[in-house]
Amino acid sequence: MKNKPSVVMMGLGYIGLPTAALIASKGLKVTGIDISEKVVDTINKGMIHIVEPDLDGLVHKVVKEGNLCAATTPVSSEVYLIAVPTPFKENYEPDLKYVSSAVKSIIPTLNKGALVILESTSPVGTTRKMEKLIFEQRPELKGNIYLAYCPERVLPGNILHELKHNDRAIGGIDKVSTEKAISFYKHFVVGELHATNAKTAEMVKLVENASRDNQIAFANELSIICDKAEINVWEMIALANKHPRVNILNPGTGVGGHCIAVDPWFIVSEFPEESTLIKKSRETNTYKTEWVIEKIKNKALAFKIKKNREPIIACMGLAFKPDIDDLRESPALIVNDTLIKEKHSILSVEPNIETSSSRKLTSLIDALQKADIIVFLVAHKEFKGLKIERNKQILDFVGLGVS
Ligand SMILES: NC(=O)c1ccc[n+]([C@@H]2O[C@H](COP(=O)([O-])OP(=O)(O)OC[C@H]3O[C@@H](n4cnc5c(N)ncnc54)[C@H](O)[C@@H]3O)[C@@H](O)[C@H]2O)c1
Repeated sequence: MKNKPSVVMMGLGYIGLPTAALIASKGLKVTGIDISEKVVDTINKGMIHIVEPDLDGLVHKVVKEGNLCAATTPVSSEVYLIAVPTPFKENYEPDLKYVSSAVKSIIPTLNKGALVILESTSPVGTTRKMEKLIFEQRPELKGNIYLAYCPERVLPGNILHELKHNDRAIGGIDKVSTEKAISFYKHFVVGELHATNAKTAEMVKLVENASRDNQIAFANELSIICDKAEINVWEMIALANKHPRVNILNPGTGVGGHCIAVDPWFIVSEFPEESTLIKKSRETNTYKTEWVIEKIKNKALAFKIKKNREPIIACMGLAFKPDIDDLRESPALIVNDTLIKEKHSILSVEPNIETSSSRKLTSLIDALQKADIIVFLVAHKEFKGLKIERNKQILDFVGLGVS
């Protein structure tokens, strides 16, 4: 492999595009591949199609310098990175169709000595499946190419910094693949590069998110218990956390996003008998959202009985976590949409989204004026310290302490 190897990046989304741009900024020639012509055209104009701080300027620079170009079909290269989606199917089984099709499309372009690294969050054993797929079609490459897995653990909003500075676990299908992959990441990562095998690296990524899910499930369960016991869960957790070795997380409306709410299922689907706690955590966090819906419906019913009319309910926050606009797998959105579907009178408030083609949004000020019941579903900064009229009823599921 040359001092500055050529690189193909399969998938130019939230992970692939920043990674491709960062590698290109180190003087390596990168060809970014995406099945979307719109994405490819946008990038070749030096522009971006996703929201991520500082990415715009970097992509513009590396495209102009000629170190990054995009295309819809792969070219031959020395290093291939794969960062395509890995969703789950309706039965919670992982859906690997994007990974398979990305691997199939690079197979004809592979030369001896190529290094192929899977970055997509994947079930344990996926790197071996990728190996099988390649050698079935190109048996002459057996022992002549290198394959590894290296998961991504960046935080959207801080991706460029974290890509460079986070430690990484890198696992090859054999020792030499691991070494080749580590040498490659040294071109653009200053965090520590930890050598392991492919299976372990795959499990590391899944376990990181399953661990967060489990800790949030504990907090969510406590919130349900404390509600029944008429204890303020926020005060109770703050006091418990005064213990030097206790650190309980915050309860909320459930768990959302495209990682924590998805990845634990990749462990459960493969190890159904063994992963009881991991499955229970997923179920607890899903149940928390249903519990929130029931709480709101009960409050609405009590209002109707007392006032002889349906209440107007403001759903405050739709995103899956505070201060972002991302609605993927969002429990707040599930609450909002379920109540609308059941014909409740809902005002949807999401200060991080200006307009939406799929749902009507109400401004924060209007909602505070018009609503009878104000339900806090996400702890956005805009909701902190709000003064709310005394005649309004409040349900706070995220510990804003609004009264
Ligand atoms: N976004 C995150 O914060 C994050 C964090 C850690 C891990 N991950 C994982 O990284 C992977 C990629 O996630 P993402 O957020 O970048 O997804 P994304 O949806 O933003 O981007 C994926 C891109 O891949 C393209 N694509 C699909 N099939 C393709 C193919 N066969 N060939 C070429 N391109 C193809 C899509 O058109 C899309 O542009 C997933 O496995 C995800 O779980 C994401």
